[in-house]
Amino acid sequence: MQLIRKGKVKDLYDYGNEQLLFEFSNRVSAFDVIMPSEIPKKGEVLCRLGEFFFKTLNVPNHMLEVVRPNRMVVKKLDLIPMECVVRGYLYGSLYERVKNGEVKLDNTILASKLSEPMFDPTTKFEKKDRPVTKDEVVDDKKWLTGEEYEWLRNKSIELYKKISQIADKAGFIVADIKFEFGKDENGDILLADSIGPDEFRMWDKTKYEAGKSQKAFDKQLVRDWLIAVGYKDALDRARKEGRDAPKPPLLSEDIIKKTTDTYTYVFEKLTGEKF
Ligand SMILES: Nc1ncnc2c1ncn2[C@@H]1O[C@H](COP(=O)(O)OP(=O)(O)O)[C@@H](O)[C@H]1O
Ligand SMILES: [Mg+2]
Repeated sequence: MQLIRKGKVKDLYDYGNEQLLFEFSNRVSAFDVIMPSEIPKKGEVLCRLGEFFFKTLNVPNHMLEVVRPNRMVVKKLDLIPMECVVRGYLYGSLYERVKNGEVKLDNTILASKLSEPMFDPTTKFEKKDRPVTKDEVVDDKKWLTGEEYEWLRNKSIELYKKISQIADKAGFIVADIKFEFGKDENGDILLADSIGPDEFRMWDKTKYEAGKSQKAFDKQLVRDWLIAVGYKDALDRARKEGRDAPKPPLLSEDIIKKTTDTYTYVFEKLTGEKF
């Protein structure tokens, strides 16, 4: 099989017949740096979680088959060059844009709940994801018709609400999420990519408190550990001075084991299935 591309988390193979094979790896990144240690079972968890969402969300999607433990066969699509981001909370880059005046919102408290979920799409194939407006996507770039744009907006918000409901029952808050869609040979729009902790930002409901930064449920242990051993400081310094990221340390056995446990815990909570 021919490797098409090594993503941050998935390896993409050409499976022939207009199909792709996703291999969900055990790689983990923190602060946008891929760690030298892998997290056992992570790939399997993310593959099965993607499978769960594709089966549970009632939306046409690209999944054809899951080859356990960590591979998914999907239909190759012509991807829409826009990432469909939906935000339920004021966080991340939206918070930055509100602070610098680019976006006007009544409520400017970090991590506060937005009055309504907000569709906040970005570019997909440019070097850096940047926010796009309907005018740019429809009139300027002609990536989509106005109708298609509205369909994607409504569908993305509907999916965000459904996933939030599932997460809520499991004790989590979905702060924001990113969907990718593509067109098949008939021009029909299908949900693509995957849905899991690499596509959404999830918080622990019991620890949530507006006005401060929140802990990412999945990778917080890795992040906290990197901060504790001084790696985060070294990374920040390097970035400020325009140098490459320093080599990250091997994760400790304890952190690796606990992170595996966190991923399997999230899977079991969200799906109600045993891992
Ligand atoms: N059905 C599909 N057809 C073609 N490309 C797809 C399809 N679904 C997802 N992709 C692409 O496959 C890649 C998935 O790998 P991933 O590890 O998530 O990459 P990234 O590092 O870009 O997040 C993404 O670039 C995504 O846009
Ligand atoms: Mg991705």
